[in-house]
Formats: sequence, C-alpha cells, structure tokens
Amino acid sequence: MADSKKVALQRQVAELGPWFHNLDICGVQTAPHHFLGDYPNFKWQGFKHAIPEDLEGRSVLDVGCNAGFYTLEMKRRNAGRVVGIDADGHYLRQARFAADQSGLNVELRQMSVYDVGRLREKFDLVIFMGVFYHLRHPLLALDLLHEHVVGDQLLFQCLQRGDETIPDLQENYDFSEWSVFDRPNYPSLFFIEDRYASDPTNWFIPNKSAMEAMLRSSGFVIDVNPEREVYLCHRGQRHYAVEPPPQVC
Ligand SMILES: C[S@@+](CC[C@H](N)C(=O)[O-])C[C@H]1O[C@@H](n2cnc3c(N)ncnc32)[C@H](O)[C@@H]1O
Repeated sequence: MADSKKVALQRQVAELGPWFHNLDICGVQTAPHHFLGDYPNFKWQGFKHAIPEDLEGRSVLDVGCNAGFYTLEMKRRNAGRVVGIDADGHYLRQARFAADQSGLNVELRQMSVYDVGRLREKFDLVIFMGVFYHLRHPLLALDLLHEHVVGDQLLFQCLQRGDETIPDLQENYDFSEWSVFDRPNYPSLFFIEDRYASDPTNWFIPNKSAMEAMLRSSGFVIDVNPEREVYLCHRGQRHYAVEPPPQVC
C-alpha cells in the first residue's frame, strides 16, 4: 500500500479508537498495545479448530460483536448470513469500518442481548463470547438466546476465576448440610461490584463448575471445551424448573 494511503488509514483507525479488538486492517493494527496481547486473535488460535473451516453458508449471529473479529472470521469461513449485534454504538462503528475495509458482507445492528427476540430468527451458530460477566441479568440472557435465536450451536466464553476443577456432587444434599458449600470447586458465582480490573461493568464472574452448570440448566449441552473458558454447545432442553423468559412485545 502507498505510504499516503497507509497514513490515511492509520488516521481513520485512530479516530475510531479506542479499540478493544486488535484487528489487522490492511496492515494497520487497531490495538497493538492491548493489555491482553494480540486480542482476541491469540484466544481464537486456541479454539479455531473447533469451528469448521467451511461453514457452508450456515447463518451466524455474533452477540456482543465489538469490532467484529469473530463476525468477520465467520464470514471468511464461508458462512452465509452473518449478523453482529452490540449494545455499544462506538464498537459498531469500528465493526462497520472493518467490514467495509475487508469487503465482507455482514449485517451489523445496535441491539442488546436482552432484545434478541426482536430478530425473530434462529441462527445455525450463535457466538456469545466475553459478554456474560458484563451483564446484570446473565441467566436471563442465556434463556433469551435459547428461546429465540440459537437454532443449533452456541459458541460461548466467559471470564472465569476461582477453582478450575469440577466437583463430584451427590444428587441431593440434606438441608442441614453446610460443608459442601465450603469446597472451592462448588459451583460459585462471584459478585464483583466495581472491584475488578477497573471495569465497573464486571458484575458476575463464575468458577468453572458454575459456568458449566449455568449453561446446562439454560438448555445448552456442552460438546467441547477446546480452550480455557470457551465452550461449543448445542441446543438441548432447559432444566425442568427453569421458567421460559418473558415474551417479546
Ligand atoms: C469484552 S467485550 C467482548 C467482545 C467479543 N465478543 C470478544 O469476545 O472479543 C464485551 C462486548 O459486549 C458488549 N455488550 C455489553 N453488554 C451488552 C449487551 N447487553 N448486549 C449486547 N452487547 C453487550 C460490549 O459493548 C462489548 O463490545
């Protein structure tokens, strides 16, 4: 690329900042100094083998798409209709720019996960990466995804902290039993309230066993856990005691 074109591109990228996704747009990195490194590419490298290289026209919804790293990757893998939604218009402007620059045809909409029922469409693959712990109502979000948009598979990731082993639990415990709750790997959800990573939007962070239990109870059958915190699930039955989420108007 000519130097003048590259300088113009660098200026546009800077004007659209700050970026959370480090994308490579025609040789220009959008977040080269990301505190997590080359994010989310380094994470993707750890689990990309779990996603077919040829998605053969399957439909994809990327919820909390940010600047569109996964949205664009799915289109590059020959997905058919690809929709990225995010609650934050700032990140969607970045995603639109990245999609335009790469010449990939994806649809981007400003929308919260709580509104997915308005899409009135089921997708073959729903991506829900890195959003769960930012939500005040995380289980409602999973219930809404299950009810309205996940037609077949869910690709999921959530920050996890605490013990990373899965406990061997009995079917049931008597009401008088207390000690099981003291096990570090008992399913636990930490409530953050403004006390982690200088990010006031971190609310609930699960340990590994809680994350898996929450996915299960919401009706997602875990097929593989190809990378720390990442799950590929398929749609199953939600737990019998889970009430369906509120109807969309
Ligand atoms: C940590 S980033 C994760 C981005 C991307 N999915 C990934 O894994 O790299 C969280 C994203 O979720 C979006 N987000 C937060 N709350 C949301 C909501 N209620 N509905 C949709 N997106 C939301 C944020 O705007 C942000 O882009």
